[in-house]
Amino acid sequence: MSEHSPSPSTRRTFLKTTGGLAAGSALLSMAVPKVHAAEDSTVQVALVGCGGRGTGAAANALSTKSGPIKLVAMADVFEDRLASSHNNLNKQFSGLVDVPNDRKFIGFDGYQKAIDSLKPGDVAIFTTPPAFRWVHFKYAIEKGVNVFMEKPVTVDGPASRKMLALNEEAKKKNLKVGVGLMCRHCDARGELFKRIQDGEIGDVIALRCYRMHGPVASFESGPKPANLSELEYQIRRFHSFLWASGGAFSDFYIHNIDECCWMKNGWPVVAQASGGRHYRGDSVDQNFDNYSVEYTFDDGAKLFHYGRCMPGCHDEFASYAHGSKGIAAISGSGHSPARCRTYKGQKMDKANLVWEYPQPERNPYQTEWEDLVMAIREDKPYNEVQRGVEASVVASMGRMAAHTGQIITYDDLFNCEHEFAPMVDKLTLKSDAPLRANADGKYPVPMPGINKDREYIG
Ligand SMILES: NC(=O)c1ccc[n+]([C@@H]2O[C@H](COP(=O)([O-])OP(=O)(O)OC[C@H]3O[C@@H](n4cnc5c(N)ncnc54)[C@H](O)[C@@H]3O)[C@@H](O)[C@H]2O)c1
Repeated sequence: MSEHSPSPSTRRTFLKTTGGLAAGSALLSMAVPKVHAAEDSTVQVALVGCGGRGTGAAANALSTKSGPIKLVAMADVFEDRLASSHNNLNKQFSGLVDVPNDRKFIGFDGYQKAIDSLKPGDVAIFTTPPAFRWVHFKYAIEKGVNVFMEKPVTVDGPASRKMLALNEEAKKKNLKVGVGLMCRHCDARGELFKRIQDGEIGDVIALRCYRMHGPVASFESGPKPANLSELEYQIRRFHSFLWASGGAFSDFYIHNIDECCWMKNGWPVVAQASGGRHYRGDSVDQNFDNYSVEYTFDDGAKLFHYGRCMPGCHDEFASYAHGSKGIAAISGSGHSPARCRTYKGQKMDKANLVWEYPQPERNPYQTEWEDLVMAIREDKPYNEVQRGVEASVVASMGRMAAHTGQIITYDDLFNCEHEFAPMVDKLTLKSDAPLRANADGKYPVPMPGINKDREYIG
């Protein structure tokens, strides 16, 4: 056996002696080669992208209960982000964070060194802006390392096609890959899904979801400060730039759209949409302030999505499904707790309540990690990439419909040739940014009805 050879029995033995539970969702039943982690039962973790979610995902990983786990490497393009993430995790999980200075990697190639610090069967966390997802996934596959990658997993057609092709290699190697659509691991939504499929609200005719609140994260950006390079500015404020994140639309709205599609048990085939920019002062980002999308499923059912990032307006962050016999509340206020309920008829009056999920609920950010790490320990097939790409394409198709003012099908988006960041795998800290500002420091914004087959020119 080479030093990286899998040790098939160690984790199973551990699970038997600790009474481990069966793994969660997304299990495929094909025969695949076994890939296990390190020689002992410790799952080693590397974090690539040490921002807010990366630090949170690492904390979730280190909080899993199925056996020993530790963080051994960290990578980020910016030293300040890595240092603060390391401090936070070290304080919270001392003893489980073993990241000396020579396993802290700064720069665009840091992901390679972080992955090189792992053994096949360990797990790498990808929580950079999504533009880098396929680049990092490709290397993890080469090295035989399991992956947790945050949503969205792609923001344009070319990356979506690339991710699916790469995933064929990941499946051949039996890599476990989790995608951060954590609502899919929510117990309450899982129970609601079964009830809807069993006909509790009749045929699902329409769904609607809302994510409407004031500007958050880097939704809007003022002019670039002189002390930052274009590339650094665009990466630090990635929600403002379509190449990096798919903008606020893909980044913020994918969860509500995805949970609706889950309940419908399908993906929409076409979208039409509108949106616009309103009181933006000197903002230079590429986002619209509000988006309204009508998605249509193959059977004619509709999903209406409303997104808005404006202060002073009605706020709502929720999803609903309307059936021929009743209505379901999929989520009511953010992602968790979901407080799923069903009612007879179309009014959510208490008197019409049929079922509600009992409180308290487990946190889906934690359950998605329990499921992934258990699949690694039990060596169960576990791969959420296809679903992650499909959800990302559906989000991008609504965004493109709004940004171009055209009717956009799933296939239009998936096959679209507009690659937002063609050289993303070649970037260095000295590179030009994928998007250029004009002489006034402004970036191209979508112009529906004028630019009809690309979301922006530039
Ligand atoms: N599932 C959820 O509910 C959820 C919540 C928040 C964020 N997210 C997702 O997580 C991802 C990160 O979001 P965030 O809020 O943590 O942003 P963030 O800006 O806080 O963190 C991103 C980090 O990645 C680093 N980075 C950027 N490019 C890099 C590269 N090429 N290599 C290494 N590091 C790089 C940045 O410097 C930063 O530290 C996004 O895809 C976002 O959609 C998901």
